[in-house]
Amino acid sequence: MRVLVVGSGAREHALCWRLKLSPNVTDIWVAAGNSGTARIADNVPVSPEDVDGLANLASQLKADLVVVGPEQPLVDGLVDRLAGMAIPAFGPSTSSAQLEASKSFARQVMADAGVPGPDYRVFHDSAAALEFVENHSSPLVIKADGLAAGKGVALCSGPEEAALAVKGCMGDRIFGTAGDTIVVEEWLQGTEVSVFAFCDGERLSAPVAACDYKQVGDGDQGPNTGGMGSFAPPPFWNSYLSEQICRTILEPTVARMAEIGCPYRGMLYAGLMLTSNGPKVLEFNCRFGDPETQVILPLLESDPVEVMQACISGNLAQTPVQWGNRAHVGVVMVSGGYPGAYETGKEITGLEAPCQSTDMARLDADHLIFHAGAAQVTDESGVTRTLTSGGRVLTVVGRGQSIDEARVAAYRKVEQIHFKDARYRLDIGDLSSGSRSGL
Ligand code: AMP
Ligand code: GLY
Repeated sequence: MRVLVVGSGAREHALCWRLKLSPNVTDIWVAAGNSGTARIADNVPVSPEDVDGLANLASQLKADLVVVGPEQPLVDGLVDRLAGMAIPAFGPSTSSAQLEASKSFARQVMADAGVPGPDYRVFHDSAAALEFVENHSSPLVIKADGLAAGKGVALCSGPEEAALAVKGCMGDRIFGTAGDTIVVEEWLQGTEVSVFAFCDGERLSAPVAACDYKQVGDGDQGPNTGGMGSFAPPPFWNSYLSEQICRTILEPTVARMAEIGCPYRGMLYAGLMLTSNGPKVLEFNCRFGDPETQVILPLLESDPVEVMQACISGNLAQTPVQWGNRAHVGVVMVSGGYPGAYETGKEITGLEAPCQSTDMARLDADHLIFHAGAAQVTDESGVTRTLTSGGRVLTVVGRGQSIDEARVAAYRKVEQIHFKDARYRLDIGDLSSGSRSGL
């Protein structure tokens, strides 16, 4: 099979790596890819946001399967477009991707389906929103309704902060049209977990869980980022919790989406808070998570191509999905300054890893390295080097019998990798601090 993967991050490197291990796959192209995907697939310089360009590329390549990493092309209708060209594509249609693209739509689906979440209100008008938050003393979360590159959520401990967030969204329009509608939510407390299940429009696979770290600094300090690390499976994850989440959250959501004519096909990603009143939904995403994918795809024991095809054709019932339970910890190495301004073009050394070489069969290696903001550059004398090209540079994944063992393996490799001004958190997978150890 000829597969086209859309995206340029470590998530997409992990997707390429896992797809390449499938006996069903002969060729993989990536739009646009990075230095990691370049070693195991063919990078094509088409932007992951260029829906026309991607549709043309898939057609030219005679792709048998297109796997979409990021949310933007899903929301912009890439899968609908490919379906119209009879090219199978893994991911939801535009209408189903609203589950991520509109937080008010997602909350309405959940309310109609009886899915537990925070108390919330939707506002289209800033005066009404301000009046509400100014008269509300408990902590609130203010969310831009639309896509805001992960920056549209403000956690506000009091009315002044909440009012500032409302003004930023609806007055200054810092997120553009994405903030013209806002969702104001109760601030939930508990342990956060990301839960992923394949979905064929009607049925869900067994779910898999991971925890991620959004803030730039140790101890969850500093500004939010696109993710500084992750681990899977969480030690608190068990069959009781998994069944409870399927029954109260995933199944009713998928049933409601089908009922309203938006059957959900693809990877369903539920961001949950495990509260003292049970699991509640923080958000839904319509894709694989980043950096969670880098720690969950190595757990996928089933053939990814068969599973994705089953999602597309509605045959998940005949295609059981198996997840392993070996511990994985992923540390994200970033450029100094990220998530603010940073420099690029720094040479990266110490990268050799099994998922980059042709030695693809070494599934048992104790670490994996997935590239993101990194590019291969060949100089005039023919020497190829890997240089940083973005803020999020690599995800270094350690593996072991326990999260502790995996964490040691991850940091052992991280310490062998160098580029100028490299930064990373030191507490990824450290469960002693308690916040990710479960209730
Ligand atoms: P989102 O983009 O909706 O995932 O929000 C980003 C982060 O904000 C989440 O991962 C949570 O850490 C936090 N968050 C979002 N909604 C809530 C909420 N209602 N209560 C507490 N934390 C929240
Ligand atoms: N891990 C957060 C995200 O993928 O949105």
